[in-house]
Amino acid sequence: MSQGLEQQAREQWKSRTGFMLAAMGSAIGLGNIWKFPYITGEYGGSAFIIVYLICIALIGVPVMLAEFAVGRKTQKDAVGSFQELTPGKPWFVTGLFGVMAAFLILSFYGVVAGWALSYTTKAMSGDLLAVPGEQMADHFGGFIGNALSPLLWQTLFMAIVIIVVVRGIKEGIEKWNKILMPTLGVLLVILVIRSVTLPGAGEGIAFLFSPDFSALSGEAVLVALGHAFFSLSLGMGTMITYGSYVPKNVNLPTAATGVSIADTGFALLAGLAIFPAVFAFGMDPAAGPGLIFITLPAVFELMPFGQFFAVLFFLLISVAALTSAISILEVPVAYFMRKFEWTRKKATWILGTIIFLFGIPSSLSLGAWGEFTIFGKVFFDAVDFLASYILLPLGGLCIALFTGWALGKQKSLEIGGFGEGSVWGKLWIFSLRFISPVLVALVLLYSTGII
Ligand code: PFF
Repeated sequence: MSQGLEQQAREQWKSRTGFMLAAMGSAIGLGNIWKFPYITGEYGGSAFIIVYLICIALIGVPVMLAEFAVGRKTQKDAVGSFQELTPGKPWFVTGLFGVMAAFLILSFYGVVAGWALSYTTKAMSGDLLAVPGEQMADHFGGFIGNALSPLLWQTLFMAIVIIVVVRGIKEGIEKWNKILMPTLGVLLVILVIRSVTLPGAGEGIAFLFSPDFSALSGEAVLVALGHAFFSLSLGMGTMITYGSYVPKNVNLPTAATGVSIADTGFALLAGLAIFPAVFAFGMDPAAGPGLIFITLPAVFELMPFGQFFAVLFFLLISVAALTSAISILEVPVAYFMRKFEWTRKKATWILGTIIFLFGIPSSLSLGAWGEFTIFGKVFFDAVDFLASYILLPLGGLCIALFTGWALGKQKSLEIGGFGEGSVWGKLWIFSLRFISPVLVALVLLYSTGII
């Protein structure tokens, strides 16, 4: 049976563009539109952005290429890839961390995506902008603290994710990304134009682009690096899994660079859609996680045609979250399909449902279950912390060490698609051997409180 299944041709992306859009869809998500703007706001704006860009170039691109290369070479899921390349060695544990991280991240990702869906409909009906600006925080707190309503939106979101993933690589994931990613680009460009043409927008643009290095702390550097991993979907085998469906003729270094540039460009544009508007209406850029659910609706209220832009904005977040969530679910789905010989349909429904159920305590922990804490954090924050600041860096560290050291230089250069003596190839190996492991290890030591 296992033989029979193994010999079935593995699913593949229909086209190179389809693969690129799917990988961009994975990378561009809540991280770009929700998290990047608020951490930029909290850590001082442009100086933080410069550090972030350096992290993407020095560590993000090389690790993404390592993931693509491992996946494409083996045509296996996040765990199977390591078993194939280094049989009998413990490297496959990296993939198991990834599958675990996927469970955890998708569980709370679905909760926040549910909020975005709900805010889209509230914006459409006019209810959102009917709330007076100064009551927006209470309104948001009341909504996420409610036991039932966020759960219903989370259910709807997870159901859509499952329905897409059940259809498979070409007919589900690729097809939907081909429709949704261009839509996302158009929505964002409209919002940026609106924001930067508001009277008083200049201050927000300066906040993003004129660096003040005195605002930069050591903590900011580590947050920038941690976020680079999250934003590029690295460290949990997503890009190994997507890479495993890539045809042989695709140039992987170009793909990794392209996806990273698109993801970073999108985050910067999201900043340009948000901060000029926030400054133009005299709001606080450092409002934290509530920036887009509290500050922005109040901004839309003051803007001509605000309701129209509010609908576009929350739709943008919902769509971006959807294409990322799809890629996260595909990690355990691909693993269970191979390991337990489950059909795609069975794996997707069972795993999607378990992840959804696991998200319920996250959602409730922001309201009724707020008293219950783990290491001083409510359930939602504890899961986010474990996944984003421990498991993702750990996965990233392992994949860098694996391709940098364990595989051997020749083999790594070969699977990465570099020719003999390529300078880029040498730089890639250098980053994987020295730069990435050291910096990622620092993030881990910092987030676990050791330094
Ligand atoms: N990159 C996504 C974002 O920025 O929202 C989140 C994500 C997707 C993280 C896939 C990790 C992952 F494997």
